[in-house]
Amino acid sequence: MTDALLLETREGDKTAAWWRQAAVYQIYPRSFADANGDGLGDIPGILSRVDYLADLGIDAVWLSPFYPSELADGGYDVADYRNVDPRLGTLEDFDAMVEALHARGIRVVVDIVPNHTSDQHAWFQEALAAGRGSAARERYIFREGEGPDGSEPPADWVSTFGGPAWHRVADGQWYFHHFATEQPDLNWDNPEVRADFVKTLRFWSDRGVDGFRIDVAHMLTKDFAEKLPTSAELDLIPKDGNHPLIDRDDVHEIYAEWRQVFNSYDPPRTAVAEAWVAADRVPKYASPESLGQSFNFDLLEADFDAPEFRRIVTENLALAATSGSSSTWVLSNHDVVRHATRYGIPVAQDSDAPTRHGGQWLLDGGDESVLDREKGARRATAATLFLLGLPGSTYLYQGEELGLHEVAAIPAEDRQDPTFFRTGGEEIGRDGCRVPLPWSADGDSFGFGSAGAHLPQPAWFADYSADAEASDPSSTLSLYREALRLRHPLQTGETLEWIETGRADVLRFARPNGWQVVTNFGAEAFDLGADAADVVLSSRALEGSALPGEATAWIAPAGLLG
Ligand code: GLC
Repeated sequence: MTDALLLETREGDKTAAWWRQAAVYQIYPRSFADANGDGLGDIPGILSRVDYLADLGIDAVWLSPFYPSELADGGYDVADYRNVDPRLGTLEDFDAMVEALHARGIRVVVDIVPNHTSDQHAWFQEALAAGRGSAARERYIFREGEGPDGSEPPADWVSTFGGPAWHRVADGQWYFHHFATEQPDLNWDNPEVRADFVKTLRFWSDRGVDGFRIDVAHMLTKDFAEKLPTSAELDLIPKDGNHPLIDRDDVHEIYAEWRQVFNSYDPPRTAVAEAWVAADRVPKYASPESLGQSFNFDLLEADFDAPEFRRIVTENLALAATSGSSSTWVLSNHDVVRHATRYGIPVAQDSDAPTRHGGQWLLDGGDESVLDREKGARRATAATLFLLGLPGSTYLYQGEELGLHEVAAIPAEDRQDPTFFRTGGEEIGRDGCRVPLPWSADGDSFGFGSAGAHLPQPAWFADYSADAEASDPSSTLSLYREALRLRHPLQTGETLEWIETGRADVLRFARPNGWQVVTNFGAEAFDLGADAADVVLSSRALEGSALPGEATAWIAPAGLLG
């Protein structure tokens, strides 16, 4: 994209390309702010924090599901796609929130969960009541079981959250669920299912929503043979577009239809795919005929390591170029261990030590006492500033701007994630990054609400409160605000050029307008020489002209900031 086009993007409110280099802030509504004092965050809670979001300087918010739900999977089990959970507010509250965010120049992206509904959805209840062979069952994936009396599951498949992927209903048929039992998969061969999602996309687009995040976008279509493969056989089938369950080419027929819907609005509605697929399959989702953008999760699995970061950036910029989309960058979201924590867990030196991707190690029950919080925090802000300097859009997850760590120590009786229950506690699950935010250093639930928090907040949350950090110029929040503020005038075309640093653990790149980003992944300081005078932001204070270890600096030659 040229600088001229970009300028137009920033200035014109109705430009189609606003998403290409946006900083998008993910809100997990039930854990953001609780206005009605029931322990669950809600839409009026978000409305009450619009100033906070505007001061943060983000371009858009992405809201994880806020729809009616039994919360078998934190809201990703949707009982009604065109409504707001009464515990979270009303459609009028939603409209008021959108209006307030738009008034502050913040766009709104909502989460669409098309692979499965909740088992409480009217369709599924109807399917249960209507019985075998009914049209209502055709909206889902029902089959007879194996064995003489059909009491064996149709296949031995394991669900993504652990446990069996087929569940038997009272009349003896079985249904398929990729995720929890309470999340029956929809049958995307059914035209009624297709038509209903188009209706949902229009419903939210008509209410002013600017874009959609598509949950497990690579799983919707399936091809079930008469005799299902075993789990072991399934594992051997290549994921090349014809796998029976995952990343099938025909899923893009759905998105081509959605694209027509998106493009019928002005500006066109955007979409970003959550597609955990091989790198060479990503451009299909990111193409302008399909969803238009796809998450790149490579950095979630990377160490804080210069060569690894450089390889990932180079590969993903090339991939984005093949689809004509822009790249996305993510360090944290509601499904993974917060990056400040991942980076504070020692990298494995041998097989007995914590694994290199500290996140999984912690989820598997690793002992959080090995965590070096300060190291994690230093590396996290260095990595975030590196990301915010890259071409493309960056997705930030609520709480990371406060430097929050994962809450690993949650008592079993307070856990909510189905992963915990379906693995018999073997995996502790994702609750640790979903603990309600601390808004104040004291008070009930650290200012989250007046009736406690739905997941227990640890005492150390007091050190990360938004109020305290807002008035502390050296806080993580102040750093994020300054970075996001500077990012607008510094933003430029969607390319970068690597500059050799002479050190394997220091990365440096320049954007087309001369904006430079230097990240020191190592421990030893890196001398910036005369460029130190042009440093406009750094995650740690310079030592003379040197960038300390585990830090990032932004360099903006005179004139760039006007
Ligand atoms: C996605 C969501 C995750 C959810 C799953 C099933 O991966 O990000 O939170 O559990 O889909 O909907």
